[in-house]
Amino acid sequence: HQMGRAFVYVIIGGGVAAGYAAHEFVQAGVSSGELCIISEEPVAPYERPALSKGYLLPEAPARLPSFHCCVGTNGERLAPKWYNENGIELILGTRVKSADVRRKTLLTATGETISYKYLIVATGARHTVDLPTSELTPGLKALKLEEFGVNTLDAPNVCYLRDVADADRLVDVMQSRSGGQAVVIGGGYIGMECAASLVINNLNVTMVFPEAQCMARLFTPKIAAFYEEFYQSKGVKFVKGTVLTSFDFNSDGKVCAVNLRDGSKLPADMVVVGIGIRPNTSLFEGQLTMEKGGIKVNGKMQSSNSSVYAIGDVAAFPVKIVGETRRLEHVDSARRAARHVVSAIIEPEKAGEFDYLPFFYSRVFTLSWQFYGDNAGEVVHFGNFSGNTFGAYWMNKSHLVGSFLEGGTKEQYEALAQATRLKPKIEDFAELESQGLEYAFNV
Ligand code: FDA
Ligand code: NAD
Repeated sequence: HQMGRAFVYVIIGGGVAAGYAAHEFVQAGVSSGELCIISEEPVAPYERPALSKGYLLPEAPARLPSFHCCVGTNGERLAPKWYNENGIELILGTRVKSADVRRKTLLTATGETISYKYLIVATGARHTVDLPTSELTPGLKALKLEEFGVNTLDAPNVCYLRDVADADRLVDVMQSRSGGQAVVIGGGYIGMECAASLVINNLNVTMVFPEAQCMARLFTPKIAAFYEEFYQSKGVKFVKGTVLTSFDFNSDGKVCAVNLRDGSKLPADMVVVGIGIRPNTSLFEGQLTMEKGGIKVNGKMQSSNSSVYAIGDVAAFPVKIVGETRRLEHVDSARRAARHVVSAIIEPEKAGEFDYLPFFYSRVFTLSWQFYGDNAGEVVHFGNFSGNTFGAYWMNKSHLVGSFLEGGTKEQYEALAQATRLKPKIEDFAELESQGLEYAFNV
C-alpha cells in the first residue's frame, strides 16, 4: 500500500460533470492542492456527446484535445495543463475500487487510500451489455455471453459506445466495413445517432428495436414517423417490434449475422448496440440511499450521507418543475448540477435548491431538435411535418409541461424553454395548435 493522500474535495469520475465542477471550483477560488479528480479514463474530462457526432465523421473528425470540457458551452477548454496550473490533482487511468463513507476514504486500484472532507460522486453510467431479460423479451437472455460461450464485447465487430476507447473501436470497425451491412440494435439515442453516422460512412444500415417506433421514451408516434421517413430516405431499414435472439459467428469469431425472434436473419458485417445504460452506483450500494437506480440526493445534490454529493447520470435528484425525483441521462443536466453542487458545498446558505428544467437535444444528418420539460399528458402537434420546422406541446392537467421543436432558431428554442418553464394553463388546445410556435412568444 502506498501512503494515503488527503484532499478537501474529491470527485470520483472524470466525465462531463467532473469537468464542469472543476471549472466551477476554480471560479469559486479553490486553493491549490484542495481538489482531486480520480478517473478511470486515461484522458481529462471531455464533452461526451461529441463521440456519437463529430467523432464519427469521415471528414475532419473531432479528436481530443479539441473537445475537452467546457467547449460544449463555449467556455474555456480545460486541457490537462489547466488542471496542473490550477493545482488540481488529476489522477487518470485509475479506478476507485471501494469507498468507505463512514471513514471518508477511497481505495484506488493502484492501492492508494485517498481521504476527503467532501466527496462528489460523478461516476456516470456504463452501457448495458446484457440485454434486459425481464420486461420486453424473454428470448434476449441468449445475448448473455455465458449462454453463447462468446463475450459479445470481445466479438471484434460488435460495438458499444460510451467512451473514447469505444469510439476509436467503432471508427476502426466502421471504416474497415465500408460498403457493408451494419445492424444497429436499439432505437434510442445511440441507435439513432450511430445509424446516421454509419450511413454517412457508407454502410447499409438496418435498425432493430422492440418498440413500434424509434425514440419511444420521448417521441410521439407522429414525431417518430418523421424521423423514420427521413432515415428511410437515406437508405436505413427499420425492423420494429422484434429483438435479436442470437448472433451467428464466422470461424474467426466475428459476428456475420443477427437472428431475430421473428425467425428472420440479418446478414451483418458489423453490429452497434445501444440498449440503454446502468448508473455506476456499485461503490455505494448499502452505504447511500438509492432511488430510480441512482444515488438519491436532495436539492443541494447531497446524498443520505452529508459529506457525499452526487451529480450527472448517477444522481437521482428532485426535479422541482415535475415535482418528482428523477435521474436524467443528459449533458445539460450534468453541467448545471456540477455548477450547483460546487456552490452548494462552498456556500450552502446562498446556493438554494437546484431548480432544473430538463433539456434534451440531438443532431443527426441535417436535422436538429430540442426538447424541454416533461413529455407527460396530452399532446398537441404544430408546424409543418413535411417541411423542416415542426414541434409539439405536452399538457398535463391542462398546463403546458413539455415542448419539442425540430429545425428551430436560437430565438425559437429560447422562447419554448421560457414558455415551458412558466407552465401556463392552456384553455383551448385547438387554439394552441393553430398558434403553434407563436404561442411560445406570446405567453
Ligand atoms: P460521464 O459518463 O460523462 O463520466 C463518468 C466518468 O466516471 C467516466 O470518466 C468514467 O470512466 C468514470 N468512472 C466511473 N466509475 C469510476 C470509478 N469507480 N473510478 C474512477 N472513475 C470512474 N447527452 C445530451 O444531452 N446530448 C447529447 O447529444 C449526448 N450525446 C451522447 C453521446 C454519447 C456517445 C454518450 C455515451 C452520451 C451522450 N449524452 C448526451 C449523455 C451525456 O454524455 C451524459 O449524460 C453525461 O456524460 C453525464 O455526465 P457524467 O459526468 O455523469 O458521466
Ligand atoms: P436509450 O435509453 O436512449 O435507448 C435504449 C433503447 O434500447 C430503446 O430505445 C430500445 O429501443 C432499446 N432496447 C431496450 N431494451 C431492449 C431490448 N431488450 N432489446 C433490444 N433493444 C432494447 O439508451 P442508448 O441509446 O443506449 O443511449 C445510452 C445513453 O447515452 C443514454 O443515457 C442516452 O441519454 C445517452 N445519449 C444521449 C444522447 C443525446 O442526448 N442526444 C446521444 C447519445 C447517447
